[in-house]
Amino acid sequence: MKKLALLLAVVAVVSMAAYAIAAPKEVVYEVKMGNVTFNHEAHLATGDCVSCHHTGDQVSCKDCHTKTSKPNSKDAFHGQCIDCHKEKGAGPVKCTECHIR
Ligand code: HEC
Ligand code: HEC
Ligand code: HEC
Ligand code: HEC
Repeated sequence: MKKLALLLAVVAVVSMAAYAIAAPKEVVYEVKMGNVTFNHEAHLATGDCVSCHHTGDQVSCKDCHTKTSKPNSKDAFHGQCIDCHKEKGAGPVKCTECHIR
């Protein structure tokens, strides 16, 4: 019995680790016209998780938004990032303010 309880406890810890992916501090996108740095940690103050992770799953946007999806990844990122910066009147909206060479 003790062994089974221990085994179940180990399984529980391992499966928690598999699902709870830690939020990144920073994400860097490598783009030809200039790399984009997204400070995830600083952006937590701009809204709740679901305002950006709009499906409720805190997974990579690229799991769904690919080069060929609708909206595609470029439009999904530009749409969310630039729209909010415009709306708040803060944060970069010009190409070369985000894409830095
Ligand atoms: C301002 C928008 C925004 C907010 C608010 C936000 N996120 Fe994110 N999050 C992102 C973006 C953008 C990425 C990078 C995804 C990508 O590159 O595909 C990301 C990535 C992640 C990842 C890594 C996903 C992966 O598998 O690569 C996790 C986990 C995550 N966020 C959790 C959270 C949690 C938890 C919260 C709320 C406390 C939160 N996020 C709030 C925009 C946001
Ligand atoms: C589980 C799949 C999935 C994930 C993950 C996902 N999206 Fe989406 N997204 C969709 C689908 C499907 C649509 C089109 C339908 C809709 O508007 O809800 C969409 C629409 C959008 C739109 C257009 C919304 C509008 O009002 O026109 C933007 C912008 C967007 N996503 C950005 C993002 C960003 C940025 C992330 C990551 C932080 C992300 N999405 C993560 C599936 C996803
Ligand atoms: C929900 C609103 C919101 C979304 C979505 C959002 N931002 Fe921002 N962002 C802001 C605000 C507000 C600021 C200004 C913060 C300040 O000045 O203190 C900012 C500032 C920035 C800055 C300059 C400061 C820094 O962190 O280096 C960059 C770069 C930036 N955002 C990139 C992005 C990118 C890339 C995305 C999309 C992946 C994105 N943001 C999505 C609200 C948002
Ligand atoms: C708020 C920040 C921001 C601004 C402003 C911005 N971009 Fe982007 N851009 C991004 C992000 C984030 C991505 C997604 C990178 C990825 O998918 O890896 C991206 C992707 C792209 C891509 C696609 C790269 C690829 O490999 O799919 C091109 C091209 C691009 N941007 C050009 C532009 C141009 C031109 C402008 C000005 C009209 C602009 N961007 C303004 C953040 C920004």
